[in-house]
Amino acid sequence: MDGNGRWAQRRHHPRVFGHVRGASRIKPVVREAERLGVKALTLYAFSTENWTRPEEELGVLWKILKKFLKREADELDARNVRLRVIGELERLGPDVREVLDPVIARLSKNTGLQLTFAVSYGSRREIARAARLFAEDCVSGKRHPSDLQERGDDLLEEYLWTADLGELAQVDLVIRTSGEKRISNFLLWQAAYAEFVFLDLCWPDFSPQDFEQAVVEYSNRDRRFGGLGQKKELKTGGIRA
Ligand code: IPE
Ligand code: MG
Repeated sequence: MDGNGRWAQRRHHPRVFGHVRGASRIKPVVREAERLGVKALTLYAFSTENWTRPEEELGVLWKILKKFLKREADELDARNVRLRVIGELERLGPDVREVLDPVIARLSKNTGLQLTFAVSYGSRREIARAARLFAEDCVSGKRHPSDLQERGDDLLEEYLWTADLGELAQVDLVIRTSGEKRISNFLLWQAAYAEFVFLDLCWPDFSPQDFEQAVVEYSNRDRRFGGLGQKKELKTGGIRA
């Protein structure tokens, strides 16, 4: 959800105005995800690097998150949406946890859209943490280093923050707004074979129609996962023919 600050500054408003407007885009986007049949949606709300921002801006961001949770919990629950948060939850203030934890618990049995907020999230930190947890399991005798050789990828995934999502943790499509064309430490492992759509518009201008268009573009991509793709294999009389 990039470009809130620039969206506001271009309109001669303070950056935080863009965060307020940006937060108001979440609900329509969640509804559109449901309408499109998207099973899991992860919104990158706050990165580990965002902590370097000025105190005032950070304060507003946490206030917005708390407000969103208080305002939307009932409707999310009514729509059977499950909410998770990935990231360094332990770094969040007690005031944020006080609002966040009960909402997560309340929606934890829901089976509809699997909605995740990445908050104080950094993918490198997530992978480093996974390595540490695995090492700890080796030290305690629960695992052996050779386990990683036998079922490496699947096994390490169990230690990522997204483990709970099961196979839905594998990202199909990443949409980045604001014109930047980089990953910025987002789901590096999980998006190994994701398709990317980069949009020039800033997050506060991102509409359900833009979301739908990105999904349509995704559906027209030829995903081969490093192979040749079914059509080409058939044509050349390859393995699947
Ligand atoms: C995204 O907007 C929201 C957060 C990172 C919290 P930005 O705040 O990154 O806005 P720009 O990229 O500076 O315009
Ligand atoms: Mg930004």
